[in-house]
Amino acid sequence: MALFPLPDVGQDNNIRRMQMGKDEKRSVIITGSAGQIGSELSFALAKRYGADRIVVSDIRDDTEGRLEGAGRFVKLDVLSKDEFGAAVRRNNVDVIYHLAALLSAVAEGNPQKAWKINMEGLVNALEVARENRCSLFVPSSIGAFGPDTPLDDTPQDTIMRPYSMYGVTKVSGELLCDYYNRKFGVDTRGVRFPGIISNVTLPGGGTTDYAVEIFYRAILEGRYTCYLKPDTSLDMMYMPDAIKAAIEVMEADPAGLRHRNAFNVTAMHFTPEMLAAEIRKHIPGFRMEYKIDPVRQAIADSWPNFMNDSCARKEWGWAPEYDLESMTADMLEVLGKRAAEGGLEI
Ligand code: SER
Repeated sequence: MALFPLPDVGQDNNIRRMQMGKDEKRSVIITGSAGQIGSELSFALAKRYGADRIVVSDIRDDTEGRLEGAGRFVKLDVLSKDEFGAAVRRNNVDVIYHLAALLSAVAEGNPQKAWKINMEGLVNALEVARENRCSLFVPSSIGAFGPDTPLDDTPQDTIMRPYSMYGVTKVSGELLCDYYNRKFGVDTRGVRFPGIISNVTLPGGGTTDYAVEIFYRAILEGRYTCYLKPDTSLDMMYMPDAIKAAIEVMEADPAGLRHRNAFNVTAMHFTPEMLAAEIRKHIPGFRMEYKIDPVRQAIADSWPNFMNDSCARKEWGWAPEYDLESMTADMLEVLGKRAAEGGLEI
């Protein structure tokens, strides 16, 4: 049942934008560009649309020049709606990738701050998108689910009662993004990312970080102490697939989208002991020890063991490229090369 009549102007305008495809000129701003996803997605968007069309932004100055070449850098605190709106207007932006947020373990350490950054930042992004007729990508997460969710083959539409503050902000964010779409015609879209494994920027305090740290420690020290139990199953994805998901869902024909915020997407699921076994195929002497962190273990136990992402596959053609085997081989090759050059640190 449609609760709100769709407003003509905004909806048409946004649909037109999303149908432009990759050959058309579009300007994109990325918030949280210096973070784990932003630091790679910014360059991928620059490659796809041209760096002259990309505005990279972060609350931190790009002092090390890590974002150089990805686009124009703007220092931006997403909690300031005025700054946010000005950056969008000045740069003629029509697509916003709103990545600035706190991850799950950090959020649990300071839930009030997490609510403020994750929700007030999102409200600003939605308002700026509404006022300036921008499309908006907002990442949700496996963290949006909770212990009452069916944790095996987790459906797209199911019970979502997360216990973590991170999850509370993710579910609230999904609802708000759908609300802005129905009420104001803002072209909001998102995916529920699983743990993301990458080799450029370390994640900043999530529950799934072990699956990144393990590679650095395996190469540097030949051993890793894991904070999750050996049999904790979680969905994961290699960064190239995460970037592909973020771009493809925004370029999808809106006529095919029955869902918007947010799509289950996954590429693989494994436990710490399965990942250790895969690493051992390359580094036979690799040793894994366990020292359980009760906070992150409780969060992980309340998240899906593996998700069903058939809606994303059906509605916009989602298909990941990397599985556990190919991701592990690539991570070890890239980081191994960096270590050989003396540039691997954690
Ligand atoms: N990787 C995220 C976290 O662990 C999940 O969205 O917080």
